[in-house]
Amino acid sequence: MINAPKGTKDLLPGQSYKWQYIESIAREVANLFNAKEIRTPTFEHTEVFLRGIGETTDIVNKEMYTFNDKGDRSITLKPEGTAGVARAFVENGLHTSALPAKLYYITQCFRYERPQAGRLREFHQFGVEFLGASGYGTDAEVITLAKTLFDKLGIKNLALYINSIGCKNCRKKYSDALRAYLKSHEQDLCPLCKERMEKNPLRVLDCKNDDCKKINANAPCILDYICDECKDHFAGVQTLLKDAGVQFKVNANIVRGLDYYTKTVFEFVSENIGAQGTVCGGGRYDGLIGEFAGNDVPGIGFAVGIERLLMLMENTGVQIPCNETVKIYVAPMGEQASQKAFTLITDLRKKGISADFDHMGRGIKAQFKYADKIGAEYVAVIGSNELEKGEVKLKKMSDGSELFVKLSDVSEFLLKA
Ligand code: HAM
Repeated sequence: MINAPKGTKDLLPGQSYKWQYIESIAREVANLFNAKEIRTPTFEHTEVFLRGIGETTDIVNKEMYTFNDKGDRSITLKPEGTAGVARAFVENGLHTSALPAKLYYITQCFRYERPQAGRLREFHQFGVEFLGASGYGTDAEVITLAKTLFDKLGIKNLALYINSIGCKNCRKKYSDALRAYLKSHEQDLCPLCKERMEKNPLRVLDCKNDDCKKINANAPCILDYICDECKDHFAGVQTLLKDAGVQFKVNANIVRGLDYYTKTVFEFVSENIGAQGTVCGGGRYDGLIGEFAGNDVPGIGFAVGIERLLMLMENTGVQIPCNETVKIYVAPMGEQASQKAFTLITDLRKKGISADFDHMGRGIKAQFKYADKIGAEYVAVIGSNELEKGEVKLKKMSDGSELFVKLSDVSEFLLKA
C-alpha cells in the first residue's frame, strides 16, 4: 500500500463540511471588512521567498520545498501566502490602483517541518493582507478582522498578544543592544541561538529552550528602543483595540519568525491545542513590497492556520453545523422503476431539490439503511404498484409517516415540506 506523505492529511467526506464551514465564515468576515479574494500560484520562483521571508529565517533555511523544474529554474512550493501576494501585487500593478488593496486568501502551504499535532508539511491558511496604508488604524482593523473571525466561529479563550518591533532604524539599534547582551551569555545559549545571535538576534527571543528562556528573561526590551514615531503608532493601535473592545496583552517577546515585519506584530495563542498553540500570526511589513518594486508600499496582514483552528474548535467543544443531508432518496424496485427514479431525480434537481437514488441494485431494506446513513429526509419508494398508478410512496424519515404522492407532485410537495 502507498501511504500519503508524512505530514500530509487526506480530508475525507464526513469531515469536509467542517472546512467548508470555516472557509465560508472566513469569506463572510472578509466581506464584512470589504476585503477581496486573491489567488496566487502554489509555486513561485524561489527568489520570491528568499527576498520576501528572509534568508536567515527557519522557513528559508530549513523548511522550503525547493526543486529545479525541467527548465532548470529554482521553484518553491509556497511556505506562506504573504510573499506571493506581494509579488502579485507589484507584478499586476495593483500598487497603481485605488489603495488600500484589501486582500484575503485561503491557500495550502508547504513547510518541511517535523510533523506533530498542529504542525504539518502541507497545511492551510486563511490570510489577509492590507496593502497601501501606513496608519495605525489599519493595524487595528486587521487585528479586529481576525478577532471577528474567532468570535463568529464561537471560539473563546484565545489570548491576543501584541508587540512592536519598530521600524528598520529602531530595530537596528535594538539588534545591536540585544546581540551585545546575548554575547555576554553566549556559552549558555543553545547551538541554534548561537547562530541566530549573529544573523538575526531577535529570533533568540522566541526560542523554547529552557536555558535560552532564562537568558531572554533579562534581555533588553525592544519597547525601550523604538523611536517616537513607532511608539505613537503602537499606542494608537492599542487605543483603537481598546475602543473596539478587543482584549490584548503587550508581550515584548512576540517577534515572529519571518524577516519582513516592522512595527506591530501579533499572535492569537491557545492553550488548548498543545505545543503548537499559535493559531494566528501577523504583523506590519512596510519594507516587503519594496523588495519587489522600486517603491515601498506599507502593508499589514495575518494568517490563521486552518488545521490549528479546527483542532481548537474540536478540543473546546465548539459546535460546527453540518448541513450534509439530502432531501430525498428515491428507492426503485426493478429496472423499470429505476428508469422512473432517474427521471424523477433529474426533475427534482432541476428544481433545486437535492436528490439521490440507488446505484448499487440493493434490495429495498438495504436501500432504506443506506438512505438513513446519508441523512435523507425523505425516501420515495417506486415499486410495481406505484409505477402503475404514477405515484411514489413517500416516507418521512424523522417520524416514519408515509403517504402517496403523484410523481408529478413530488417536487411541489418537497418544496413546501
Ligand atoms: P506564520 O506564523 O508562519 O505566519 O504562520 C501563520 C499560521 O499558520 C500559524 O499561526 C499557524 O496557525 C499556521 N502554521 C504555520 N506553520 C504551520 C504548520 N507547519 N502546520 C500547521 N499550521 C501551520 C505567516 O505565514 C505569515 N505569512 C502571516 C502573515 C500574513 N503576516 C503578515 N501577513
